Amino acid sequence: MKRPIAMFAGTGHAVPRRALTNDEFAAMGIETSDEWIRERTGIRQRYIAGDGETLTSLVTEASRQAMADAGVHAGELDAIILGTVSPDRLMPATAVEVQAALGASRAVAFDLGAACSGWLYSAQVAEGLLATGQYETVLVIGGEVLSRIVNWKDRNTCVLFGDGAGATIVRRSTKGRGILSAYMRSDGNLADLLHRPKGGGCFPMNDAVLAEGSHYIQMSGREVFKHAVRSMADASDRALDGAKLSGTDIDLMIPHQANIRIIEATAKHANIPMEKVFVNVDRFGNTSAASIPIALDEARRQGRIVDGSTVLFAAFGAGFTWGSMVVRF
Ligand SMILES: CC(C)(COP(=O)(O)OP(=O)(O)OC[C@H]1O[C@@H](n2cnc3c(N)ncnc32)[C@H](O)[C@@H]1OP(=O)(O)O)[C@@H](O)C(=O)NCCC(=O)NCCS
Repeated sequence: MKRPIAMFAGTGHAVPRRALTNDEFAAMGIETSDEWIRERTGIRQRYIAGDGETLTSLVTEASRQAMADAGVHAGELDAIILGTVSPDRLMPATAVEVQAALGASRAVAFDLGAACSGWLYSAQVAEGLLATGQYETVLVIGGEVLSRIVNWKDRNTCVLFGDGAGATIVRRSTKGRGILSAYMRSDGNLADLLHRPKGGGCFPMNDAVLAEGSHYIQMSGREVFKHAVRSMADASDRALDGAKLSGTDIDLMIPHQANIRIIEATAKHANIPMEKVFVNVDRFGNTSAASIPIALDEARRQGRIVDGSTVLFAAFGAGFTWGSMVVRF
């Protein structure tokens, strides 16, 4: 089928009330420093969910904004796809809780677990739904409350992640706007480099799991870093090739916001100067599936994306999963 099929008609985002700065980790007894975190990652602060703040509440708020932006009401939603690996409950999917909160009674709702690539995968699934002709309007969200699945005693991971949600409305393309090219990959051989080892069906939660903290996120940082740089570069190439464009044709690049050094390496590979790269990892940390849609919403609201802008997206995450898209707005 010929692209573009699907376009982004609205965006929104939400984060918890509380911002946690790098300096605050010391008071929590974690041996780290603002300097170490900023130099290695570019992160200055991240938002952390507090009492009463859940994945459902953040995603619902972001979704309401995106729906208002697109002029879409809940009854028009045909599907809700939520990219997340930190659902409010293991069963049912958080997407159905969001459906209920929004009153989107006609929609089919499900979660999609692709870690930091979650929104990018979800957008491509939505495009596929639209291509069937049976769906018109899809709410595509990336949302995470990673603060509840990181080990707050593990400095290798707890300084990196943040909570938040970014929502987008995907509708049928008009005037040649929308997804020009898209790419997805995964490699399960590398699953153990970034994972939650226990607490699932294979090793059910018990006192031993709780005591050793093996239900929390564990990561081999250096290995992940290497793969992220390689995969995001490859993904950028694929999407550019698919759209028959080069880096110089791109008005803005929105990469997954994990680490400023990964972002810089990806941009350099794609021949895109940093002035054309959207960066907010300094304020949000790595919000996994939420990172790209939060950045997309900020970029639009700041006027960095206007009608006709050509935007390159690239993501990488646990799995490993990775992918990319070129979108004309
Ligand atoms: C995690 C990461 C920032 C570490 O940076 P790095 O340059 O690889 O760090 P190094 O391996 O040189 O240094 C690690 C050392 O710093 C220490 N360290 C780890 N976290 C620390 C922290 N928050 N504060 C201070 N020191 C820390 C380690 O204990 C280790 O010490 P050791 O050498 O005595 O064992 C980097 O590997 C990274 O960004 N990886 C990718 C992570 C990511 O983006 N994951 C999500 C992908 S979607």
